[in-house]
Amino acid sequence: MKFLHFELVCGNITPKQTLSKVTILTCIILLIFTVTATLSYSLFIYSPLLKINKYKLPSTAFDDVKEPESLPSTSVKKCDIFSGEWVPNPEAPYYTNTTCWAIHEHQNCMKHGRPDSQFMKWRWKPNECDLPMFNPFQFLEIMRGKSMAFVGDSLARNHMQSMICLLSRVEWPIDVSNINDSSFKRWKYSSYNFTMANYWTPHLVRAKKVDSNSVLFNVYIDEFDETWTTHIEEFDYVIINGGQWFLGPIVFYEKQKVVGCQYCDLEDVAHSNLYHGYRKVFRTTFTSITSLESFKGTTFLRTFSPSHFENGLWNKGGNCVRTKPFRSNETRLEGYDLELHKIQLEEFEVAKKEGMKKGLKFMLLDTTQAMLLRPDGHPNRYGYWPNENMTLYNDCVHWCLPGPIDSWSDFLLEMLKMETVRSTSKNMLHL
Ligand SMILES: *[C@@H]1O[C@H](CO)[C@@H](O)[C@H](O)[C@H]1NC(C)=O
Ligand SMILES: *[C@@H]1O[C@H](CO)[C@@H](O)[C@H](O)[C@H]1NC(C)=O
Ligand SMILES: *[C@@H]1O[C@H](CO)[C@@H](O)[C@H](O)[C@H]1NC(C)=O
Ligand SMILES: *[C@@H]1O[C@H](CO)[C@@H](O)[C@H](O)[C@H]1NC(C)=O
Ligand SMILES: *[C@@H]1O[C@H](CO)[C@@H](O)[C@H](O)[C@H]1NC(C)=O
Repeated sequence: MKFLHFELVCGNITPKQTLSKVTILTCIILLIFTVTATLSYSLFIYSPLLKINKYKLPSTAFDDVKEPESLPSTSVKKCDIFSGEWVPNPEAPYYTNTTCWAIHEHQNCMKHGRPDSQFMKWRWKPNECDLPMFNPFQFLEIMRGKSMAFVGDSLARNHMQSMICLLSRVEWPIDVSNINDSSFKRWKYSSYNFTMANYWTPHLVRAKKVDSNSVLFNVYIDEFDETWTTHIEEFDYVIINGGQWFLGPIVFYEKQKVVGCQYCDLEDVAHSNLYHGYRKVFRTTFTSITSLESFKGTTFLRTFSPSHFENGLWNKGGNCVRTKPFRSNETRLEGYDLELHKIQLEEFEVAKKEGMKKGLKFMLLDTTQAMLLRPDGHPNRYGYWPNENMTLYNDCVHWCLPGPIDSWSDFLLEMLKMETVRSTSKNMLHL
């Protein structure tokens, strides 16, 4: 049984690479990219001949956004984009560690000598329809003048960095962070006036280490974590996630009393209370959003991302050495993963109803099944150099970049497009 997140060991470490060299390079690349992006962007809009442009963008032409009502809304509604299979995609990846500087050191698998590269060459194929590859032009157009926050554990950062790389075909963001910490980054896409930020809050609610040397956390399941709740009011989109950290050593507090204890030796305490704690944490998290007075944004729940330790526990030599995705008939969600996912869906439904009363939208980014099928997408032992001290643990939690986590942006854009279609047809009905 796995219980402790790899992040406890190395997730919150600032990448060692010094920024100076990278920054200079970046500025040059940024210049070149801004020019080319602007050029191809205008061509893309104005010349129908150039629609099949060098990026080989899939069928969802940029212009669709301008005419969302022309999309067949029945097929949009009926297809469950989260049920499907991974199919080969020879065109992937759409960036590499040399074209994108935003890849976190520990997810830069190719840099650290990962020998196989097939894991980058898959795309998600829903059973009932197609999921277009991420179109950065389309995404940025939808996001013009808007903002998006990634809130949760280091997989939120992993997702945001994947998105920066995918968007880099159009534009590089500038760093407008208030503090120098990769867990709280703020990026701005100047020509789109689009801001994106991540807030590191692995337990989502108020939590603190029992003491600085400990891996044991006190988690206050009914208290807001104000390090992020006081910052998201301005955002148009908030993507919430949380999971692996709840499988670690925790003392759960409710109404300021200990109500559960997991991998800790408190006497007279009900051992574990994981499911209750986890449920309550999501309820508190969603409440902290719906109770914000001026928040008008859309909240996404990006569901539990399963880890793939095999051949041992995470801390007993467990690893993830597969080089191919599973087919959906070869594995299924079980144990903790199944239960935590179920709790998320249930609490999401509660939040959605609550949100509706206040005119707030909640959307489910249900990537769990797709990611369950990707035991091949983790850094394993290629998240660091072999001689580094972190070699104690293999990382089967985070995702290599490029890699399967890039699909989260495919899903996200598809949902945003559906939303555009829906609100446009709603507006039309009201006319
Ligand atoms: C990118 O990966 C290659 C191996 O594919 C490696 O040699 C190189 O150092 C990496 N570059 C960066 C900037 O990470
Ligand atoms: C940029 O977007 C923000 C909202 O994210 C808005 O308040 C601001 O007015 C916009 N600025 C410009 C120049 O459009
Ligand atoms: C941020 O951290 C990097 C790496 O530790 C350092 O090189 C840089 O000077 C810092 N920047 C600021 C503004 O503190
Ligand atoms: C899974 O499905 C594929 C294709 O439908 C089939 O070839 C394979 O034998 C199945 N595997 C299992 C374990 O059922
Ligand atoms: C690795 O850890 C050991 C003891 O924890 C320490 O003595 C050694 O200097 C470390 N090596 C590196 C490269 O950090």
